[in-house]
This record gives sequence, C-alpha cells and structure tokens, in this order.
Amino acid sequence: MILGIETSCDETAAAVVTEDGHVLASVVSSQADLHARYGGVVPEVASRRHLDLVLPVVREALGSAGISLDRVERVAVTQGPGLVGALLVGLSAAKAVAWARRLPLVPVDHLDGHVASLYLEPEPLEPPFLCLLASGGHTLLLAVRGHGRSERLGTTLDDAAGEAFDKGARLLGLGYPGGAELDRMSRGGDPAAFPFPVARVAGFDFSFSGLKTALLYAVRDLGEAETERRRADLAASYQRAIVRALVKKSRDASAETGLERIAVVGGVAANSGLRAALPEVRFAPLELCTDNAAMIASQGRYTESLPYPGYLALDAYASFS
Ligand code: KG4
Ligand code: ZN
Repeated sequence: MILGIETSCDETAAAVVTEDGHVLASVVSSQADLHARYGGVVPEVASRRHLDLVLPVVREALGSAGISLDRVERVAVTQGPGLVGALLVGLSAAKAVAWARRLPLVPVDHLDGHVASLYLEPEPLEPPFLCLLASGGHTLLLAVRGHGRSERLGTTLDDAAGEAFDKGARLLGLGYPGGAELDRMSRGGDPAAFPFPVARVAGFDFSFSGLKTALLYAVRDLGEAETERRRADLAASYQRAIVRALVKKSRDASAETGLERIAVVGGVAANSGLRAALPEVRFAPLELCTDNAAMIASQGRYTESLPYPGYLALDAYASFS
C-alpha cells in the first residue's frame, strides 16, 4: 500500500495505490478559485493553502480507501519540478508521516509521475512507447523505454501547450485556468474560421508564442463586440492550431523512433480536440490528466525508496534538469 502526496503547483492531492496499481483513493483539492482573481498561481498563496489542506487531504484519502496509516508501507511524494515553496509543504508532510511510522520515503519526479498515470489499473500501458506530456508547465516528447526511464526528444522553446491554452483563454475573456473553458467554447465554433499559424520548428521542439501573438492581433483587429460575437470561432481556430502542432510532432517522433504506440498525458491530454485528432492514441484517464497523487504513488512503485530515517534532509527542486 503506497500513500502518494502531490503539492507541486495549485492542487493539494493525496492518494492510496496498491503495489499492483489499483487506485483505492485519489483526492484532489484544487486551489484554482483562490488564484483566479490574480489570473495565475501566486506561489506564496499556494504554499499557505497547501499547509492548510495537506493533512485533511491525506486523512480523506486514507478514509476513502478505508485503511488506517498502519497499512501504509511507503510514502511517495513529488520532489520536483514545481513551485519550491509548494513542494516543500508536501515533502515535509510526507517526511513526517513516513518518519513517524518508520516507513521508507520515495521521492518522485513530477514528470515521471505524469507518465506513470498510464501504468495504473484497469488498463495499464507497458513501455516502450512514445509519450507526449503536455501540461501547464511542460510540453515534452519522450521516448519511454521503461518505467521511469525516458529520453527527451523535444520540448517547447517558449510557452507550454497548457500555458498557450490559458493565455488564449485569457485573451478571449474566458477566465483562469482557461484550457478546459476554451475547449468547451471551441465545440460551438468553426476551426477553419481563422487561419492561425502553426510554428515551424526544427526537430521535435515546439513553439507557441507566435500563435498567442496572432490571437492577440486578431482580437485587436476585430474589436470588442465582434470578438464577443465570434468567440467560439476564435477559440476553435486557436485550439486547432495548438492541436495540429502537438499531433504533427508526435506522429513525426513516432515514425522516426519506431515507437509505434503513442500516449498522451498531462492536463492538455484532457482536451477534446486533441483526443479527436488522435483516435488511435492512448490518453491518460481523464481524472488523471491534471495533477493528482495517484500518478505519484504509481511512479513510487518503480522509483528507489529511501529507507528510514535517511530522508529527513531531502530537498525539493524547482526546475527540471
Ligand atoms: O498537468 P496539469 O494539471 O499541471 C501542470 O503540471 O502544469 O496541467 C494543467 C494545464 C492547464 O494549463 C490547463 O489549462 C490545461 O492543463 N488543461 C486543458 C484542458 N484541461 C486542462 N487544456 C486544454 N483543454 C483541456 N480540456
Ligand atoms: Zn503536472
């Protein structure tokens, strides 16, 4: 029985996962409402909120799994990358729980965690495969050779795909975080209405900042009333440009590496346009696309654990190396 804890950004999450990959409980408390008025995550506000929520969320996960702490054999926690103050709250809580019970601690990389959302029951995917990880913080193409063993083929040169969704949503007056909202708005729009550009970038890298500027100019040229009237078309066209870039590079990378199976994880994997554009591809289950602790506990099954009490000085890391 593995207890997972995740606090890298603005979700406070805890989960209980078995050694063979069954999710007994996964509790996610989102702080999105708290940050919405600022139009983005405020790190210090996030840390303080994690502090309020982390123990209640852990208790709720254990409660809904129907187990007491005695049954937990290991504690897996996100060590990085993320907001360092936010990470430290989860890491400290995990150390405290593990230390009090003399349990081993498993430090998990958040990005490996996203990939490990694919390894859970009822339909676990086995490596090797090509993985597109598209979230608010990262856009990566990975050649996944084994559990927690992947090679980076490409990344974004500027904004992450989720960030592009969020910034586009903001330009269209759709609130924060805007990805899901823009997705919803797109459904009523014409994706061919505006010819937004797909950046040409060499290799398997991505770029989304030019697209964001194109939307900004379109909104400016249309004016407020016309933007309002054509909001669904703008959203659909913008979404199509992002989806096209993700689809093309994923297919290219799959062809070049010979990794025929493609999987998509991270918050943007929830996007309906992306799902429709890649019908043969494996997507993380919807509830495990955005940040959660089940994926962290899942990866905790494959990462080496640190025996009691050798982890007390363990530090978080903010950026990925
Ligand atoms: O994986 P995640 O929860 O956090 C990071 O690790 O960054 O991803 C959050 C991102 C946000 O940018 C959010 O707008 C985006 O995923 N997102 C979506 C959708 N749902 C969430 N983007 C497009 N379409 C969606 N349906
Ligand atoms: Zn994430």
